[in-house]
Amino acid sequence: MSLTSSSADARLSPSGVSLPKVTIPALAEMKRQGKPISALTAYDYSTARLVDEAGIDLILVGDSLAMVVLGLENTLAVTVDEMLHHTRAVRRAVHRALVVADMPFGSYHGAIDEAVANAVRFIKEAGAEAVKIEGPRVDLVRGLVEAEIPVVAHLGLTPQSVHRMGGYRVQARTAEAALQLQADAFALAHAGAGAIVLEGVPREAAAAITTALPIPTIGIGAGPDCDGQILVFHDLVNLTFAPAAKFVRRYADASALFRSAIERYREDVEHRAFPSDTESYHLPQSARRLFQMDVRDDADEVVNRDAREEITQS
Ligand code: KIV
Repeated sequence: MSLTSSSADARLSPSGVSLPKVTIPALAEMKRQGKPISALTAYDYSTARLVDEAGIDLILVGDSLAMVVLGLENTLAVTVDEMLHHTRAVRRAVHRALVVADMPFGSYHGAIDEAVANAVRFIKEAGAEAVKIEGPRVDLVRGLVEAEIPVVAHLGLTPQSVHRMGGYRVQARTAEAALQLQADAFALAHAGAGAIVLEGVPREAAAAITTALPIPTIGIGAGPDCDGQILVFHDLVNLTFAPAAKFVRRYADASALFRSAIERYREDVEHRAFPSDTESYHLPQSARRLFQMDVRDDADEVVNRDAREEITQS
């Protein structure tokens, strides 16, 4: 591989301008320059394409897919194979954004070697460019980085700890807990994490950590002072069938849009208003004449046969 950029290093914008690929070092550079990092989840080819083409910097194939795509109650049941399947679909769509795969519950909670082997699958089999893990797992971050796997850490409200937390509750609400959060963030940064997602923590704690930390923070329910923001795609466009959390801003109502399209289609089918003649394929004129003659002959044949049967039976 040469040091000159390959076609994988850049993509062309719709207007033909070359856009550089977002990488972990590029995120660090954005923090240095005070340029906000935009991030969003995606779980399939079509949404990932839209997200990438809209210029979002980081796409997370989040284990939130367990809930918003698979309809499960929480994120705990989704498997490595399911996450790989969705990561591959996203990877095929994305040219510019950094693709980060969430490691699912249970895939990194045992021996470090086993966790590294699972993370390798996301890079090797699905084309992820980094993995995300929840909690202050400093030794694991070190192990992953030693294996050349970039890591996005995740602190605060970590949904895979739902049972320990007793629900999805804002974390670090006391001075001690906020100091512990800061200490964990520092330890993860020093172990080599490339960025840290801060979820469901007070704005003040997130702001202080963001200022002090050498690596970017990406907030979700952590206030506006983080280096970047991430939301779940389905929250952004109202496809969750549930009231939005306080930190969610709905930018579109895809539920209403899709519902109306689906209902109009059903009505059209029921009223034979779909498809129209112009939405149908046609035989060429010459073939149409011959075909109609044949159909008429066949119909006559059926009538004659029925008549013959009636005569023989009577
Ligand atoms: O799985 C997910 O979508 C996440 C984001 C909420 C950060 O972890």
